[in-house]
Amino acid sequence: VTEPVRSVVYVNGKYRPSEEATISVFDHGLLYGDGVFDTMFASYGYIFKIDQHLARFARSLRAIRLEIPTPIADLRRAVIDTVARNGLNNAYIKVVATRGISAEPLLDPRGCTPTVIIFARPYLSLADPAKVSTGLHAKVTSIRRVGMQALDPRIKSLNYLNLVLARMEAYAAGCDEALLLDDHGYVCEAPGYNVFLVREGHVVTPAYSILEGITRETVLELSAELDIPSEIRAVSPYELAVADEVFLTSTAGGLVPITRVDGQAVGSGKPGPIFSQLTRAYDALQESGRFGTQITRAAIG
Ligand SMILES: Cc1ncc(COP(=O)(O)O)c(C=O)c1O
Repeated sequence: VTEPVRSVVYVNGKYRPSEEATISVFDHGLLYGDGVFDTMFASYGYIFKIDQHLARFARSLRAIRLEIPTPIADLRRAVIDTVARNGLNNAYIKVVATRGISAEPLLDPRGCTPTVIIFARPYLSLADPAKVSTGLHAKVTSIRRVGMQALDPRIKSLNYLNLVLARMEAYAAGCDEALLLDDHGYVCEAPGYNVFLVREGHVVTPAYSILEGITRETVLELSAELDIPSEIRAVSPYELAVADEVFLTSTAGGLVPITRVDGQAVGSGKPGPIFSQLTRAYDALQESGRFGTQITRAAIG
């Protein structure tokens, strides 16, 4: 396996060629998963909802009491610069902040110097495009989502092992994706995605134990614009079995249909009409540039 091809990466205020963009092996982000991140994307030359992503990033930082020296307004400029410097119109963009390094690599968050990284790659999707057209097969995993009593899923932290293990369980069962339940047994999310289902013309999405997804929020906004009623509430696994449609939402992939759950077809077994309607509206929204911030080379300072 090779590294991604050369690009320009922002590390602690400096832009470096990716092969020179290094951080310490003693970084607490690596040693303890002590850090947070956010993933955004650009399409048609616009970064989608950059301020909503940076507001969520700021909330994640605050929730883990991590203070970085860069104000969010400067970070915003750096995100646009990083995409511009890589010459990308369609991009997968990640902002990462870790507790950084301290005098000794011990589990002590005090006295650390934080690390801030921004990178942009040509757009990447979590799901295989060939599978997206026909629908993914999902497994409701035995691994539950970490509860908010332990680590609130609203924090977009560097602790994704819970989700990685769920995904491995799904792959081992011959499925494409995992669906996780929370510690009360309600459906919450998938690794890197929020979950929606459709019942009797209503779109339904779990209320709790989830990351507050920007794509989820967008799908709810589009549903309102399209006069599709929506419900934000507890969702039990029973509802996956009786749903007409199930789909996932993520910055990295947009809307992704699930056509089989635990071996049973969802509805007709094909991506459904409401999924298709919302996907068309989501694509049109990207093309329109609404909620978009233009990637201007002028931003390079
Ligand atoms: C755990 C988790 N849930 C949901 C999502 C979807 O959120 P968004 O639509 O903001 O990408 C993500 C995406 O990054 C995630 O990591």
